[in-house]
Amino acid sequence: MTTIMTKPQLALRHFLRVETLTEDQLIALIHRAVYFKDLDSRHELKRQPEYRETYVANLFFESSTRTHKSFEVAEMRLGMSKIGFDPGYSSLRKGESLYDTVRTLEAIGAEIAVVRSTEEAYYDTLLASETSNISIINAGDGSGQHPSQSLLDMMTIYEEFGYFKGLKIAIVGDLLHSRVARSNIQLLEKLGADLYFSGPLDWYDDCFNASGKHCPIDAIVKDMDVMMLLRVQNERHQDNESINMSADEYLETYGLTVERAAKMQSHTIIMHPAPVNRGVEIDGSLVEADNSRIFKQMTNGVYSRMAILEAVWYGRHEGGI
Ligand code: CP
Repeated sequence: MTTIMTKPQLALRHFLRVETLTEDQLIALIHRAVYFKDLDSRHELKRQPEYRETYVANLFFESSTRTHKSFEVAEMRLGMSKIGFDPGYSSLRKGESLYDTVRTLEAIGAEIAVVRSTEEAYYDTLLASETSNISIINAGDGSGQHPSQSLLDMMTIYEEFGYFKGLKIAIVGDLLHSRVARSNIQLLEKLGADLYFSGPLDWYDDCFNASGKHCPIDAIVKDMDVMMLLRVQNERHQDNESINMSADEYLETYGLTVERAAKMQSHTIIMHPAPVNRGVEIDGSLVEADNSRIFKQMTNGVYSRMAILEAVWYGRHEGGI
């Protein structure tokens, strides 16, 4: 029997940047993701027949495990048809541009393209065409944004606390190169959380001072509700941006050690978008600690991405956009 799901509250044309989402839209997406998770827990989450003819192309030009595979699972769980794409075996190798690749996939039937690129705001080029009708979901653009990660992070915090206003949240590590940090800072500020930043000043941008305060980790760890660690993004560091420090030294100076974690409040949760450099930004034993939500974040990624895909589908088919 097909479960008749309630209709989504939200209709989107694309899903590109978090700043375009209103607080109401954000809360609607979180509620929808929680709704999907709840249906699933009751084994009532069923593929919807009306999605079957919706082809979604998943174009990942930068490595990914979580985002790529959870978008694929989200598409399958909704009942959409996914088009896999391997850049190494595509005509990109013959010089075809991203723009022409996306136009080609649209021409053969893709309605939605989920794209990760090393290039910041790559989608501006894709959306420049007035004849293109494909919807773009941003799965990460260089050091720009990672809006679907942000949604799953907000869902995870919401499940834990039920609210955002006044929560003390530390974002710790390589903020400068982190698209997760950029997206999360904007959303958490919009939702009224109190933000604190920590990590090497070499990997910090003063523009974040408008949203929170930079502090040594030892000064804040005991007061936070959420400790959100960030990966050291070695692949994005220019030659002059490396820090001459061993993994152990980095962990001792900037990371979440077992000793620091012991000072956290009993309700404080540990988050990390992953992949995790165990023993660098976080002690490896804390990744699966009782107060870690790192694997829960990954699980929530499927439901959050279902909410995004559904909102875009609804926008195209029933929302008149
Ligand atoms: N968090 C995240 O984006 O992980 P992946 O790079 O594996 O997709």
